Amino acid sequence: MPNASKPESTAGLKRTVVLVGLMGAGKSTVGRRLADRLGVRFVDSDSEIETAADMTISEIFERFDEAYFRDGERRVIARLLNDKPCILATGGGAFLSNENREMIGKSGISVWIKVDLETLWERVKDKDSRPLLNGDDPKGVLTRLLEARYPLYGTAEIVVNSASGDPHEVVVNAIVAALEGGGYLPATGGNEDKHEH
Ligand code: S3P
Repeated sequence: MPNASKPESTAGLKRTVVLVGLMGAGKSTVGRRLADRLGVRFVDSDSEIETAADMTISEIFERFDEAYFRDGERRVIARLLNDKPCILATGGGAFLSNENREMIGKSGISVWIKVDLETLWERVKDKDSRPLLNGDDPKGVLTRLLEARYPLYGTAEIVVNSASGDPHEVVVNAIVAALEGGGYLPATGGNEDKHEH
C-alpha cells in the first residue's frame, strides 16, 4: 500500500485525474501506478460501488439493473470530485453520461486511455467479471461499444495512446507529461517528496 502512509498528500495535483476508456484499457492498473508515482490516493469507482453495495458488479447487474449501478457510479464520481485531488479510475460507461462528463469537466481532468480493439479483446476475453460481455458474441459487443463510445471518449481533455505491448509505465509517463504540460502538476512530476523509485 504505497499510498497508505500519505492519504492526505495531493503532491501539487490541482484536480482529480479521471481515467476513462473501454473495459481492458488499463485504467485501474495505470491509475494505481500513476497514484503511486505522484504519491496521491488511488480510487477505483467500480470497487467503491462494490464495497458500498457489498456485491460484485455482476451481482448488482443481476439483482438490480444497470440503471442502479449507473446511479451508484454517478454518486461515487460526484463525491470524489468534491474531495482532495486523487487519481480516479472509472468504469468504461461512466464518461457516457452527460452529467458525469459535466461534473468531470468542471472539477476534474479527464484522461482517455485509448487502446485498439484487439488489445482490449485479448485482455478481457477470458474474464467473466464484466456483465456487458457475458452474453453471446462478446467481441461483437466490445466492437460496437468501441464504435459508439470513442466519439465521447474523444472529448476527454487528455488523450493517451496505449499501443499493444506498451508497458503501463509508458502510459503513466505520457499522462504525467500531459498533466505537467497542462499546468495541473508541478513540472517535477509531483513526486519530489517520494524517493522509493
Ligand atoms: C462497464 C465497464 C466496467 C464496469 C461495468 C460496466 C462499461 O468497468 O463499470 O461492468 O459500461 O463499460 P471497467 O471498464 O473497469 O471494466
